[in-house]
Amino acid sequence: MKPINLDHYDTLYENLQTEYTARFPRSGAAQQRAVEHLLDGGSHTARQWAPYALRITSASGAWAEDLDGYRFVDFWQGHYANILGHNPTLIRECMIEDLQRGYGMHTGLLEEREAEYTCQLAKAVCADQVRLTTAGTLATMYAIMLARAYTGRTLVLKISGGWHGANPLALKGVGKNSRGYDRVDSAGVPDSTGEELIVTPFNDCDNLRKIFRSLGDRIAAFIFEPCLGAAGFVPANPEFMQTARELTAQYGTLLILDEVITGFRFCAGAMHSLYGVKPDLATYGKIIGGGMPISAVAGHNDIMQLASNRAGTKKVMFNGGTFSSLPLALLAGSTMLSYLSEHEKEIYPRLKAKGQTLFAGIEDAFTRQGVLAYCMGRRQPAELQGSLGAIYFPSQADYYPASAEEFNDPILAGATLREQALKLGLLLGGVNVVHGLGAISDAHERAEFEVVYQACAAFAEQLRRAGMA
Ligand SMILES: Cc1ncc(COP(=O)(O)O)c(C=O)c1O
Repeated sequence: MKPINLDHYDTLYENLQTEYTARFPRSGAAQQRAVEHLLDGGSHTARQWAPYALRITSASGAWAEDLDGYRFVDFWQGHYANILGHNPTLIRECMIEDLQRGYGMHTGLLEEREAEYTCQLAKAVCADQVRLTTAGTLATMYAIMLARAYTGRTLVLKISGGWHGANPLALKGVGKNSRGYDRVDSAGVPDSTGEELIVTPFNDCDNLRKIFRSLGDRIAAFIFEPCLGAAGFVPANPEFMQTARELTAQYGTLLILDEVITGFRFCAGAMHSLYGVKPDLATYGKIIGGGMPISAVAGHNDIMQLASNRAGTKKVMFNGGTFSSLPLALLAGSTMLSYLSEHEKEIYPRLKAKGQTLFAGIEDAFTRQGVLAYCMGRRQPAELQGSLGAIYFPSQADYYPASAEEFNDPILAGATLREQALKLGLLLGGVNVVHGLGAISDAHERAEFEVVYQACAAFAEQLRRAGMA
């Protein structure tokens, strides 16, 4: 099968936008009203797309409904937080009960739930100590501050494409510019921050060794995701994970694993447990809040103690924030963690099997229409397979991107086609994907997969009609 011919791409995309604006006029009008005072119409870049994002009126399980009354199968699922689907009864009911007895909203006072929740989390991820905050961005920021304080060093090593939230301490090399993945990603972040950050490609052990040989004794922390979101969810290969652990230990650098996406996504705990590797610190978010805002830094006692009131002059100002440990969030998070740990043996194999079925089905749907498309997530080693995936359009048969650089290349992996046209094409077919797909929840079943296959087939048909396949 031949790869996609991108020559007629602009016409295809224009036609899709026309069809989309005709199908979803109410969301279009809502966007126009929104931009009057809400910058760009929404408060998170990832929730916006061209020509405008749909406005949701309800969401349940695998589905969401928009303002124009269409239902769609959703793979964004609360930025990948909703592992049981949207608004699961289990969580909703316990929150309603709490509110009905007059509790749950913020008090700003200590209560037992917080200790119970952190105990649950610490046990599940095998950490000595945990401190909570409200966003993954803050958790990664505090983890880096802890590492700098602990080591007395400044440099931080990260992965190209690695996203740790808009945390200014790690905001370099997330996206690509003409100089590659080696620049500060935001205005307003001083050049000195960029100088303190070193960027290395994912799964490249040779480069990692080279960096540690030349700068290892100046690096406070090496931070990375066990499964790189920006690369379509490529997992760290075991050799890379092992090398990272060995080099950081050898040079006195702290290993921080950012498990904001991966925590409780592959098992009822940390993804790093699948590698048999223990980081010095790890960050969690998304799933651990059960749909409410909780994030955490968890790690080794000696390091975490620096955030304690007893740390004296070395104290790291790690305050969870006004809304940290919101009672309802602790309840939702704790209910979620209990459920996942009690049902670990059924849920995770089921999610893995669903992933393999869906990824293969998507590839088949495209193949039957003569379109070469693959699904990231399908070809991982069995122990690292899971429920995260991304469709891409390879430049040749048997091409599997291994890094953010490759996955986001418009030619090698059809990145523009994926981010723009596939997004609209699948929405028109009743499916919401982000960066090519997203996260399968336990609420996604065969019926939803059928909708996806039909949407992929219809999009493939549009590619053929446009002379691109
Ligand atoms: C790996 C990773 N780290 C950190 C963050 C930041 O989390 P939040 O958006 O909750 O601040 C994200 C968010 O998508 C993430 O994917």
